[in-house]
Amino acid sequence: MRTPIIAGNWKMNKGLSESVAFAHDLAPRLAPFTTVERVVCPTFLALAAVADELKGSNIGVGAQDAHWEAQGAYTSEVSAAMLKGIAQYVIIGHSEVRAYLNETDERVNKKIKAALAYGLKPIVAVGETLEQNEAGQTASWVSGQVRGALDGIDAANMQNIVMAYEPIWAIGTGRNASSEVANHVIGGTIRATLADLYGDSVAQAVRIQYGGSVKPDNMAEFMAQPDIDGALVGGAALKLDDFAKLVEIAAQQKGG
Ligand code: PGA
Repeated sequence: MRTPIIAGNWKMNKGLSESVAFAHDLAPRLAPFTTVERVVCPTFLALAAVADELKGSNIGVGAQDAHWEAQGAYTSEVSAAMLKGIAQYVIIGHSEVRAYLNETDERVNKKIKAALAYGLKPIVAVGETLEQNEAGQTASWVSGQVRGALDGIDAANMQNIVMAYEPIWAIGTGRNASSEVANHVIGGTIRATLADLYGDSVAQAVRIQYGGSVKPDNMAEFMAQPDIDGALVGGAALKLDDFAKLVEIAAQQKGG
């Protein structure tokens, strides 16, 4: 049985005081749903303060990226080493980082290894563009991203990794993948690739989220799918009622 995990990616939204206030209000709203793992990913600026605010709440905190070097002359970067003790999770390979900051599979791989080395759990995002989707290249592209991300990572580490399928055309567009299609990619491509790399029992234990225009209206459909273990949420994670509702739905449908 895979514990569902809902992560809110706040992206470049909410400054320091707004983040802390939001976390303060969110904690009691999410408190009843202990069968679901709940994570919020604020900006680096607010990470430590939000982590402080959420202490004792059983809500996890994640960073939105992490550099692979522990320290050094890397202006603007934050290392996995620095996040240790503050965050428990880190999103790696988000399509916005891939698109706007020239993220590559090779860098994603190095970041995952660094995150694991410092005890962080990577949430590894993969997904195809609209053009690739329409050209029928989703399976080969996504499988290639999974293999590239996990190159050299052993089976024992897979229990600390969460995968997220985020079709790029569905992120922030209001146009979500259908739950059947998402389940098909998650089960038939991502989990199948994990099975090929690590064997079936490891693949069955890895949690794989769907992300891309998840909202209270469509959450139940996604959570009804057998291979979808939660959601990576952008827009709807910025609203208290919406995010609480997503967690509630996950708890109802997947919380055991
Ligand atoms: P969205 O973003 O929910 O706003 O589509 C998802 C994400 O980028 O993780």
